Amino acid sequence: MTSDLKIQWEACSVRGLDKDRLLECYNLVRKIRPLYIASGEGWVKKQKLAEMESTPGLEYIIGVNSSDKVACFVSFVLDDTDDHDEPTTFIYELHVSPDMRGNKLGTALMTKVKALARHSITLRVFTCNKRAIKFYRMQGFTVDSTISTPAVLFMSHV
Ligand SMILES: CC(C)(COP(=O)(O)OP(=O)(O)OC[C@H]1O[C@@H](n2cnc3c(N)ncnc32)[C@H](O)[C@@H]1OP(=O)(O)O)[C@@H](O)C(=O)NCCC(=O)NCCS
Repeated sequence: MTSDLKIQWEACSVRGLDKDRLLECYNLVRKIRPLYIASGEGWVKKQKLAEMESTPGLEYIIGVNSSDKVACFVSFVLDDTDDHDEPTTFIYELHVSPDMRGNKLGTALMTKVKALARHSITLRVFTCNKRAIKFYRMQGFTVDSTISTPAVLFMSHV
């Protein structure tokens, strides 16, 4: 259970994000690199790092374990209007360290984003990422079939 994991929560904007923390977060994203490859999107380290450190308005909530290592994190833009008709909280990344999965950390991160979101929440997930899709469905997200493609689903929570 989360309470036994002694997670400390940190929240900051991308401008205030420590470089080491950024790299730890990047390394968690990198763990699903095979899914990027399988989806056809491919993996370019420079591009992913640039997105993670330079997206305007990006916010991070990071769960840190008792060894001061990143156990999980979510990054998102509140009231994003790029590519959306209505403002939406767009989740860029949501990751839990493989050894910590199944302990409700993903649920804890999503609960924090839901508490901050002023409108809908939107995210994209690879169709091959069955576990994440199951997780998002349990969180009340549904697929927006108008913009989804065979490889990438857009899911939203209203
Ligand atoms: C998807 C992810 C964030 C879920 O986080 P988590 O902390 O493991 O999830 P939780 O413990 O909060 O579990 C919530 C639900 O997720 C699903 N889930 C959790 N562990 C699972 C597992 N081992 N197998 C299948 N489903 C699982 C279950 O539906 C679970 O509900 P339940 O506990 O009532 O059965 C996590 O698996 C992860 O980091 N995956 C890799 C990164 C990723 O793909 N991110 C999404 C990018 S779009």
